[in-house]
Amino acid sequence: MARKEIKLHTKEAIPLIDIHNHILPNLDDGPADFIHCLDMVRNAINAGITHLFATPHHKNGQYENPKKDILFHVQELNTYLERENVPLIIHPGQELRIHHDIFSAMERDEILTLNNQGKYLLMELPSNDLPRYTLEIVYELILRGIHPIIVHPERNRMLLDNPAVLFDLVQEGALVQLTAGSIIGSFGKKIRSFSEKLLKHQLVHFIASDAHNCTSRGFFLNEAYEVITKSYGSEFTLYLQINAEALLNGKPILTSHPVPIKRGIFSFMK
Ligand SMILES: [Fe+2]
Repeated sequence: MARKEIKLHTKEAIPLIDIHNHILPNLDDGPADFIHCLDMVRNAINAGITHLFATPHHKNGQYENPKKDILFHVQELNTYLERENVPLIIHPGQELRIHHDIFSAMERDEILTLNNQGKYLLMELPSNDLPRYTLEIVYELILRGIHPIIVHPERNRMLLDNPAVLFDLVQEGALVQLTAGSIIGSFGKKIRSFSEKLLKHQLVHFIASDAHNCTSRGFFLNEAYEVITKSYGSEFTLYLQINAEALLNGKPILTSHPVPIKRGIFSFMK
């Protein structure tokens, strides 16, 4: 079981790590070419990021990026960055859209866990739906020793309406990643306020950029951590940053007891 409840005793500086973004060129809706990819590399370095997981979409209805393709492109980019002495290390990952066929896709070796370590998997829900088999897949993944990280639940309409479902998923062992842009208001007030609610209920384990470009979907990690530090204190920011670092080495994640959450206020406004 790669989950631990630990109290924080340290405030030492830890590296800035981004666990979810679309920096690889010409694979999905990230940068269209290598030039734009390098613009994102520069942006990441300027933001102080030292390591990032490149996590192209897979099976989202538009893009297919199986494991072997991502590993190839990550290695290619790392070779270039190393040769040019660029101080950024790219780690392989994948943003997998949940689907009923996940386990046979694993048998076909399509699925890429973070750093290909078989421990943590970024899992995306559809924007407007919550498949009935979601809880079952979370349960089955955990049985296999893989911890699903539900990415940007704050942008799922069904969870916005009924966040208690997210509480149940976390109770089952799912981990949760909020997008930095959601916290600073890039996706509007409703999503920002829902993000705050999830943070308050201790339903969040990671913050990531989900960056796609250098403009509207940039990194914004520092900005988000600043907001979190102001609202919840530096210990909470440290907790999130330590968890991001733990993913690099497949180490256990810090968790806190999630607070039960009621139906969203928006469901009563319809
Ligand atoms: Fe993404």
